[in-house]
Amino acid sequence: MEQLSAKTIEIVKSTAPAVKANSEKITSRMYERMFSKYPYAKPLFKNAPKNQPQVLARSIVAYAENIENLGALDAALERIAARHVEISILPEHYSWVGESLLGAIKDVLGDAVTDEINAAWTEAYWYLANVLIEKEKKLYQSLLTEDKKKIIKDTAPILKEKGEAITTRMYEIMFNNYPDVKKLFANQPKNQNQVLARAIIGYAENIDKLSALSGAIEKIAVRHVKTNIKPIHYPWVIDSLLQAMSDVLGDGATDAVKKAWFAAYWFLANILMKREQELYQEVA
Ligand code: HEM
Ligand code: HEM
Repeated sequence: MEQLSAKTIEIVKSTAPAVKANSEKITSRMYERMFSKYPYAKPLFKNAPKNQPQVLARSIVAYAENIENLGALDAALERIAARHVEISILPEHYSWVGESLLGAIKDVLGDAVTDEINAAWTEAYWYLANVLIEKEKKLYQSLLTEDKKKIIKDTAPILKEKGEAITTRMYEIMFNNYPDVKKLFANQPKNQNQVLARAIIGYAENIDKLSALSGAIEKIAVRHVKTNIKPIHYPWVIDSLLQAMSDVLGDGATDAVKKAWFAAYWFLANILMKREQELYQEVA
């Protein structure tokens, strides 16, 4: 990864005290900006503690103060990445925070934020964002352990048996919590709504031989690109599926079971998102 420029380091260091003195104001403003411009960010924070602005503020200040010695933050960044992966944060989310944070710094510190300072913080934000994105990518790739594959195989039959109930519930939850998703399914006949969840369950049953699914995956990716499915939509499906599993399976949907399905989902989702990105680039 490219290193931060000496100038950026200098500017971030010299402005860190002003940011620190106003850090909670800045981060509160950041959430205001983000939630009003990017309402899809809101559900990601549904389980966030009340003091999330302070948590974020502390991490930004720590970052600015350690800008010359980022190695000192590595363990902290590893923890943040792990938490982010638990809540399905994707690279596509980072511009929401970046734009909102830089806007908030400007709102709170006013004219003191020159173009030069703004440029330095922009560079510094994206540097940090990319460190997290890389860590998160690795974590997503390592989610699906052999233990989890075994749980998937053990629970696939129950999920299949209750498939109808789970998929029905999943769509109820998804359409209720993420109303914009309805538009994406506008061209689908009603009874086809369950195709997606059924496919997830079907693929999970074949968790050991996913390489055999490349043809099916290609077909889904093409369909998704035609319907304009984007990475930011992917957290909605798994969030809804896990809730539906809890509702339908009750005690059967243990933490371990849900974690295993979460891992299997992201394994497949990452293959799809990657292929879809290529297809979008081809048509662009
Ligand atoms: C460079 C950018 C970012 C930094 C420095 C950062 C920092 C943090 C920190 C320090 C935590 C607390 C971790 C813990 O609980 O141990 C956290 C959690 C979280 N972050 Fe980020 N984050 C960044 C980007 C993002 C983005 C892009 C999103 C999504 C739009 C996001 C959403 C969340 C959520 C939802 C939580 C968890 C709240 C909970 O505990 O439920 N973050 N982040
Ligand atoms: C791992 C995750 C996913 C899997 C396994 C999956 C699976 C499928 C399958 C099997 C189809 C039918 C393909 C065909 O017609 O040949 C499909 C289409 C579709 N999927 Fe996905 N999907 C996933 C994620 C998503 C997400 C995140 C969304 C959006 C929230 C979504 C929305 C749709 C829509 C709208 C269609 C097509 C509707 C139409 O035919 O008009 N899918 N998906």
